[in-house]
Amino acid sequence: MSVWAVLAAAGSGERLGADRPKAFVRLGDLPLLAESLERLDASDWIDAIVVAAPPGWEEPAILLAEELGCSKVSSCVTGGATRAESVRLALAEVPEEAAVVVVHDAARPLVSEAVIERVLAALNQGWDGAVSGLPVSDTVKRVEGDAVVETLDREQLRVVQTPQAFVADVLRAAYAGDVAGATDCASLVEARGGRVTVVAGDPRLAKITDAEDLERVAALL
Ligand code: C5P
Repeated sequence: MSVWAVLAAAGSGERLGADRPKAFVRLGDLPLLAESLERLDASDWIDAIVVAAPPGWEEPAILLAEELGCSKVSSCVTGGATRAESVRLALAEVPEEAAVVVVHDAARPLVSEAVIERVLAALNQGWDGAVSGLPVSDTVKRVEGDAVVETLDREQLRVVQTPQAFVADVLRAAYAGDVAGATDCASLVEARGGRVTVVAGDPRLAKITDAEDLERVAALL
């Protein structure tokens, strides 16, 4: 059974205010992309990796993988206008024989072997998909404009991260349709009736959005 990883790294990262896409801003001594790339490459569970890079950054991404000795990188595609488009384009490079696809955001550099193991273990139990997630500690309200419409029961809520793992055929079918508006892969699988479970995530997987997030993660390296 082969497990392929799709690394979504094609975001512009405008909120970081850098002169380059988010995946190529510095985290420690290397571009942000290096951290997740090395971690996925070193994983005993992952057989091959497809990277979605920002337009014009495909070659730097491939060179980085080579410099780091990430031998599992099979190809690097040009990402799309949205995350969902980028994943769809990368998924097209995953061969038919792949049984499982793990999708991960480069904006979450500190992916661990333990969390990869947890999402994959859930697939072995018969789920179509598994996402890493955390309980919600704040109270969450649904609003319309400034008006509060509803207070949600936080016991029933999870903040969802990546990695997210899927039976490859299920993910392919989900991405064959309209992907507009999807902010994660699991929502597309759910929309088609796929059974998705949530496993324990990791606070260290919080997404890097702004310069403060970058500092926070750099301190954890
Ligand atoms: O933009 P955001 O931080 O939500 O993106 C989450 C992940 O999706 C990031 O790793 C980013 O590089 C990736 N992405 C992508 N293609 C896009 C937009 C985002 O691969 N067009």
